[in-house]
Amino acid sequence: MTDAYRLKDLIDDRAEAGVFRVSRSLFNDAALFEEELRHVFEGGWLFLGLASQAPERHDFFTARAGRVPVLISRGQDGELRCFLNACPHKGARIAPFPTGNTKLHVCPYHSWSFDSAGICKNIKWQKSGDYADAFHEQDHNLVQIPKFGEYRGLLFGSLNEDVPSLEEHLGEARKMLDLVVDQSDRGLELVPGRVRFTYAANWKLQLENCTDQYHFTSTHPSYIRALEDRSRKNSAEAVQSSLSSSSFWKAGGDEIVAGSFAFDHGHAVAWGKMDVGPSLPLYDRADELAKRFGEARRNWMFNMRNLTVFPNMQIAENASSQLRVIHPIAHDMTEMETWCLAPIGESSAARTLRIRQYEDFFNPTGMATPDDTAVYEECQRGLSTREPSWLQGHARGSISTTAGGNSLSDSIDMLPAFSVAGSGQLADETLFRSYYRAWAERMKGALV
Ligand code: FES
Ligand SMILES: [Fe+2]
Repeated sequence: MTDAYRLKDLIDDRAEAGVFRVSRSLFNDAALFEEELRHVFEGGWLFLGLASQAPERHDFFTARAGRVPVLISRGQDGELRCFLNACPHKGARIAPFPTGNTKLHVCPYHSWSFDSAGICKNIKWQKSGDYADAFHEQDHNLVQIPKFGEYRGLLFGSLNEDVPSLEEHLGEARKMLDLVVDQSDRGLELVPGRVRFTYAANWKLQLENCTDQYHFTSTHPSYIRALEDRSRKNSAEAVQSSLSSSSFWKAGGDEIVAGSFAFDHGHAVAWGKMDVGPSLPLYDRADELAKRFGEARRNWMFNMRNLTVFPNMQIAENASSQLRVIHPIAHDMTEMETWCLAPIGESSAARTLRIRQYEDFFNPTGMATPDDTAVYEECQRGLSTREPSWLQGHARGSISTTAGGNSLSDSIDMLPAFSVAGSGQLADETLFRSYYRAWAERMKGALV
């Protein structure tokens, strides 16, 4: 614990007075970053993966909780468990691979072995080891992390025992997750092919950018121009999502086309209205989804939704669907893991469209992601100065923010903590406040 950090020097939260500001220190201070790892990432719930990443007995995959490697394994009994991916002997990672299937994990160092339920099956040369009884009395099994839970196939864990239930942590943001999961009665899967990349900037730039509607037309003009060009050349089958069409962003006046919902515990979603049209891979099941879930819920499935589940998971649904996991490495370095996310069992035409539009927009080789990472790095350069301390990027939407929801959230029985709805150019920034309030809550032990 340090007494060097005072919350009021880091976050100026006087929303009633129209003021919410965040200090540059949150992005440029290496010592504060260490505290973040400990308290934000290793002190509370994190997203770890999908149950569908280990569908069969003895399947496993590995993940990270802050700095800590973890192993998620499905045992002979069909149950998923999450262990520290660390051998009790001398700490070596017992599963060095991202994914696999094995009845027995054999440690690469001295060959202690563990079954898929984490039970130690063999200690090499145990009988000849002249161990004291005290050693035999110890538990040699893999250590399960203190909290591990599943919400509809999404797996979360916490290295800290003292956290609210997963249900409480996710709260009303579960309704946004439902819109993704309900797209198939068989759940979600990761399209094969994981992408990892780093950018030289703070993790909170990614945290914010996912739900930053203000940057789209400024940062991604080449993507917008490419789509407009395509639609001009091939108007008969124009693939033109309302997200990328400039008319979406031009909408003004009283028409409500976009907004945000912020939830307790740091979750938030930026949304934009999109037509139920053929530009989205769900279109071939639009009627079926309306029959099953009602029109309001179906229409929400088609809306652009960029969702953050604090602090490390994001699902962006627009032209395609992307799952992102944020791994902070240093105050000025972040690793991203991203996948194309898809409903299990969709038609091959829908899957093809999903993948093609994913490649267009999302991949590091696509037309949008490199723009974003380049501006994060520009921000980090500019954020290296200590003064002036306060940033001005959390103020748009201040006077249109309302407590609770609106008719659009009511239509799916969702009650956010606060919300904003308006034109495409309102581009709310108040939803970020939810991140920083949750950040402050988790950082309590490091701040005065
Ligand atoms: S570190 Fe695993 S067997 Fe020695
Ligand atoms: Fe972007």
